[in-house]
Amino acid sequence: MNKQKRRAIIAGNWKMNKTPAEAKELLNAVTPLVKDADCEVIACVPFVDLSVALEATAGTNVKIGAENCHWAESGAFTGEISAKMLKAMGIEYVIIGHSERRQYFGETDVTVNKRVRAALDAGLTVILCVGELKEEREQGITAELVALQTKVALGGVSAEELKRIVIAYEPVWAIGTGLTATADQADEVCGIIRNVLADLYGAEAAEATTIQYGGSMNDGNADELLSKEHVDGGLIGGASLVAEKFAAIVKAASK
Ligand code: 13P
Repeated sequence: MNKQKRRAIIAGNWKMNKTPAEAKELLNAVTPLVKDADCEVIACVPFVDLSVALEATAGTNVKIGAENCHWAESGAFTGEISAKMLKAMGIEYVIIGHSERRQYFGETDVTVNKRVRAALDAGLTVILCVGELKEEREQGITAELVALQTKVALGGVSAEELKRIVIAYEPVWAIGTGLTATADQADEVCGIIRNVLADLYGAEAAEATTIQYGGSMNDGNADELLSKEHVDGGLIGGASLVAEKFAAIVKAASK
């Protein structure tokens, strides 16, 4: 199997943007623009927008995801949302381990692993984020670091469950900064992640797993990034908030 046989996935990560009314408006603009996409299209939106997003995308090819979930099924975790709750409302995808969760909310590789486990148990597909800080790249430890993040996050995940894992390589220094990894840098690290998956699950499973790049991906650089062997899609922040830009990236992935 090779890149041509893997399903390309373009996912928006709206982060903490858009009220329900604004979400509806944005999705109403996006859906007609991406209706002929030859790739999977996902919008990961704030919890409060999930209902309206499901309604706005019903009967379209756009799927809806959440941006996080808790590891417990229920209980005394004020302010948290469980994977079971997401699944019950018809959500299919959830981002886990985004660097902003790690940076601002104390997320660790271990808690990422617990959330991955919970999401899989609830029947969700996980978009698992890994990526190095600028200082870590400068120290030359990107490969080791990303391998470790991937291994810890996938602890206890079976080969069968890996089919419901998408990995997003997001170098932290490229997120929201306008600094994009070069296509070769993105390809190199996505390839390293694929090798880690091959060690853990065998070559065939590794070749079948979609690995996205994220970090200032936009309508201007998507073509080149997505042309690379190991870059199977994108996790898009800022550009996912503008219908035309997001649609252009979807188009680039559909070629
Ligand atoms: P930007 O595309 O805004 O750099 O964000 C990337 C990201 O964090 C997606 O999860």
